[in-house]
Amino acid sequence: MSSNTPTTIHRLDYREYPFNIENVALHFDLHETSTRITSTLSVSSKENWPADLVLNGEDIRLVAVSINGKALGEHQYSLNEQTLVVPSLQGQFELSIVSECNPQENSTLMGLYVSGNSFFTQCEAEGFRRITFFPDRPDVMSTYTVTICADKARYPYLLSNGNLCASTDLPDGRHQATWEDPFRKPSYLFALVAGDFDIREKHATTQSGREVLLQVYSDKGSGHQTEWALESLENAMKWDEARFGLELDLDRFMIVAVRDFNMGAMENKGLNIFNAAYVLADPNTATDANYEGIESVIGHEYFHNWTGNRITCRDWFQLSLKEGLTVFRDQEFSADMMARNLDASAAASARAIKRIDDVTRLRTAQFPEDAGPMAHPIRPESYQEIANFYTATIYEKGAEVIRMQHTLLGEEGFRAGMDEYFSRHDGQAVTCDDFINVMESVYTQRNPGKDLSLFRNWYSQAGTPRVTVQLAYNEAQQRCSITLSQSCAPVGVEKLQNGFVKKPFHIPFSMGFISQSGQPLMLQFEGRPQTTVLLELIEESQTWHFDQISERPIPSLLRDFSAPVIVDYPWNQQELAILCAHDSNPFARWEAVQALSSNELLRIAALLAQGGQPELDPALLQVWQTNLTDPSLDAGYRAWLLTLPSEKVLAERMTPIEPVAIARARDFVREKLANGLLDLWQQTLGQNETPGRYSPDAISAGRRSLKNLALAYLLSIQNPSAIQAAFAQYQNASNMTDRLGALSALVSHYEGDERDEALAQFYEQWQHDPLVVDKWFALQANARHTNAQTILGLMAHPAFNLRNPNRARSLIFQFCINNTEGLHKSDGSGYAFWADQVIALDGINPEIAARLARVMDNWSRYAPALKAGMQQALKRVEAHPGLSKNVFEIVSKALN
Ligand code: PHE
Ligand code: ZN
Repeated sequence: MSSNTPTTIHRLDYREYPFNIENVALHFDLHETSTRITSTLSVSSKENWPADLVLNGEDIRLVAVSINGKALGEHQYSLNEQTLVVPSLQGQFELSIVSECNPQENSTLMGLYVSGNSFFTQCEAEGFRRITFFPDRPDVMSTYTVTICADKARYPYLLSNGNLCASTDLPDGRHQATWEDPFRKPSYLFALVAGDFDIREKHATTQSGREVLLQVYSDKGSGHQTEWALESLENAMKWDEARFGLELDLDRFMIVAVRDFNMGAMENKGLNIFNAAYVLADPNTATDANYEGIESVIGHEYFHNWTGNRITCRDWFQLSLKEGLTVFRDQEFSADMMARNLDASAAASARAIKRIDDVTRLRTAQFPEDAGPMAHPIRPESYQEIANFYTATIYEKGAEVIRMQHTLLGEEGFRAGMDEYFSRHDGQAVTCDDFINVMESVYTQRNPGKDLSLFRNWYSQAGTPRVTVQLAYNEAQQRCSITLSQSCAPVGVEKLQNGFVKKPFHIPFSMGFISQSGQPLMLQFEGRPQTTVLLELIEESQTWHFDQISERPIPSLLRDFSAPVIVDYPWNQQELAILCAHDSNPFARWEAVQALSSNELLRIAALLAQGGQPELDPALLQVWQTNLTDPSLDAGYRAWLLTLPSEKVLAERMTPIEPVAIARARDFVREKLANGLLDLWQQTLGQNETPGRYSPDAISAGRRSLKNLALAYLLSIQNPSAIQAAFAQYQNASNMTDRLGALSALVSHYEGDERDEALAQFYEQWQHDPLVVDKWFALQANARHTNAQTILGLMAHPAFNLRNPNRARSLIFQFCINNTEGLHKSDGSGYAFWADQVIALDGINPEIAARLARVMDNWSRYAPALKAGMQQALKRVEAHPGLSKNVFEIVSKALN
């Protein structure tokens, strides 16, 4: 885990691997502390001259190497910490390698490891090299035959990719199974699982009439929690057939849930391995948000089978080729699922909710990343540790870049592009350029004279562009003109490059006009009347004219968030109030509420930072009242309209950042809105019950979210009857969403003894369900008055375990990421706690440690006193001896 001279890998240094590895035969002799692996590779050189065969290997012990059955002596190869090199080979040969590893002691959760009573693997991005010596890069694709031997009583199920072809009993109570994956794949998609599980399964028929077996494996005793996962899997399968014509290509598709996992889930061919948090759910233990998360991650991994596995990445700089595209696909899947069975207007608001949710994630995680020391284009130019580049930029901004192509091509054009992508590249390891070349061919065909050359800058440049909008209205001519101007300052490494000049982006900008009385205006644009127009900004500045506009309109801008940019337009509060109540585009209407309330919150935060006495702008209260009582809006959408912008979103607009002032401003406004609309909140509580059998559908979930929002507002002012209502809801809830909604309102805002009683009771009741215990830790990590000391106390609880990533995330990450006041305590205790935990985690699991390290990314944008404390904590981590290259890359870039 030590490497102090980090090497930087550059995209432009890509070289083809000089050998083909047609087939890989793996034999695993599984034992907890020492597993022996024999790997037999059929190799052939690509060229007619000799080359060195370079194999990656990490943390494994080499036992023997042979070529065509002849053992190699130590002088015939060279071995170091990272590679095994057999020099000067040519032609066709069979290479056999025997090696050993220790799964029990593997706390990194990369390669082969033990979790609970089972064996699991994780190979993306560079985990296969921790299993056996191999060219561990995505452009080396092979077929795999895998034989697994293990104790039969402890490990009755032995799984790998593809189809099961044989299983037999062996002496000494052992047994073995052989799997064959007919599809060529890179090593990062290899998987193995051995253990004892509950299984839920179902036969399904694909659109071409093939019968397939869908299976979900989970811990013994948790089989009753996999119904939703299996249903989601079947829905994903049907959706990909209907929307993209893509069918499951295997006879069986397995999902296995694991308790110890670094990420959400992994798309190994035919054998997806999932963090249990994205598989297990029942109404008593999982919230609406958990149900939604499971559906979307199951969709995501399933969709990777085509976008990721059938067509994979040439090298890891192309990661967004599979991730951005697959996130776009899972977003569309979730939106379609949420809108299913609804009438047109409810469907539109269900889609808007999904878009609001995704855009909020982008703004809270990706915008700050794109403005900080780790800023990188969706196709990075360089990295030290690839695990650090599974970022919001690659995933979420990557999905936005795909979505813009969808917007520019239209649904039909995009589908034609996807069809062409598979027809050109199925079975290959390709680049982002290959993808955009395909899309451009369709775009140009449909829009003669136009191309996507400028659009490519989204792949090569980082940063969030700013689009400034100017509106000019000429009453005499009845003409309204819109001028869009774009700019994007250099960020991250761009700032270090001499003479770096940023080029303009191709920005699809969707907009409309609203009259002063709140009506949408019909615009003549590109020869047809429309209420929403798509402007394509390709220069630094461009102007569009709209005629027959009889009054000065209010612009409704960047509808549906048609591009990942920041819009600058000087609406006054009154214009915003009109949009807040009337914008016909539900996404833009929510945006208007965000803009109005952000302006107000930032004004109050600034005042508070100077010790001033704020007052609330009555316009805000008016908007809240209108939206709380608008009968035409469904509950879930109203809940979003009535939620104040998060601290993180506000921080992006404050220089320097005063986190505590932001938190206080939100408290102040929240309390004013609670007091000012007391009766309405109370009515809302009563009007949104969801009696009967629990269902996670969008309408029911929306009602619960509005009700729990009302509860939170009321508890923020310690309203006595609401406190009673919260306790009653907590006790009588028939599902976890309501139970947790009530408990979290109490824990955040109430200080009485019953709060601790409820918390204790919650633990007592759910201590045997790890995912619920995670919720219990998270609640406390986020609570008001929780500080580093409180967290250290909770870390001493018998249920805490630093080695389990979900547990570490539920307590330590929740505190460091979300508990603003706790982290930014003026005594520096929050920062010291952060540094201690990064260092402690780094000794166990560098990937997880590096994620925690990123909490300090934007330290230099904070107010001076805080900034100094954060910098000091970062320096302490950087100076720690034996730091992993994962954490080193993050802290050294932050301090640069
Ligand atoms: N490829 C996985 C996904 O996005 C994420 C992942 C990356 C999981 C690395 C584990 C390790 O679906
Ligand atoms: Zn993915």
